Amino acid sequence: MKVLFLVLALLPAIAVGEDTRQVASLPEAAQASLRQEMQASLVALNEVLTLMAAGKVVEAGALAEAQLGVSAMGKHRGKPFAARPGPHMPPAMHGIGMDGHQAASEFARVAATSDRDKALALLPNLTGGCVACHSSWRIR
Ligand code: HEC
Repeated sequence: MKVLFLVLALLPAIAVGEDTRQVASLPEAAQASLRQEMQASLVALNEVLTLMAAGKVVEAGALAEAQLGVSAMGKHRGKPFAARPGPHMPPAMHGIGMDGHQAASEFARVAATSDRDKALALLPNLTGGCVACHSSWRIR
């Protein structure tokens, strides 16, 4: 709900083409890691939606957990510090990322019970995390 209000509050600025987002400066290497993660997240999200549409609710949940959920956190941990996006993000931006992982895991927990309607109701929280960060932060 918090995310929905944030997104709605931002719509007028988007409509007039203003860029009101805050800038976070990340080292080049961290930017590259982030970009790679983002491209993978978009693919994963599409797979989750495709599985849900096919009625494969349990599979959708498992994929969401592995690729987008709390289980997917820390994948840059083994990289040099400059190549890790998380520690270079301002806390507010990082928090949105954490909330996004939590939302994916919450969806995954419900999807694991194969309750399609309940899982569907949580799907917008997944995309809501992407929108919340993209509409408040940029790195260039
Ligand atoms: C914590 C902030 C944050 C969250 C959460 C987030 N993103 Fe991003 N995303 C960014 C930033 C910052 C960029 C810009 C990267 C750049 O300028 O290269 C970006 C860029 C992207 C790109 C463009 C990558 C490219 O090829 O240049 C895609 C696609 C993307 N995000 C998808 C997603 C999806 C899907 C989600 C949700 C599952 C998501 N993002 C969640 C911050 C975030």
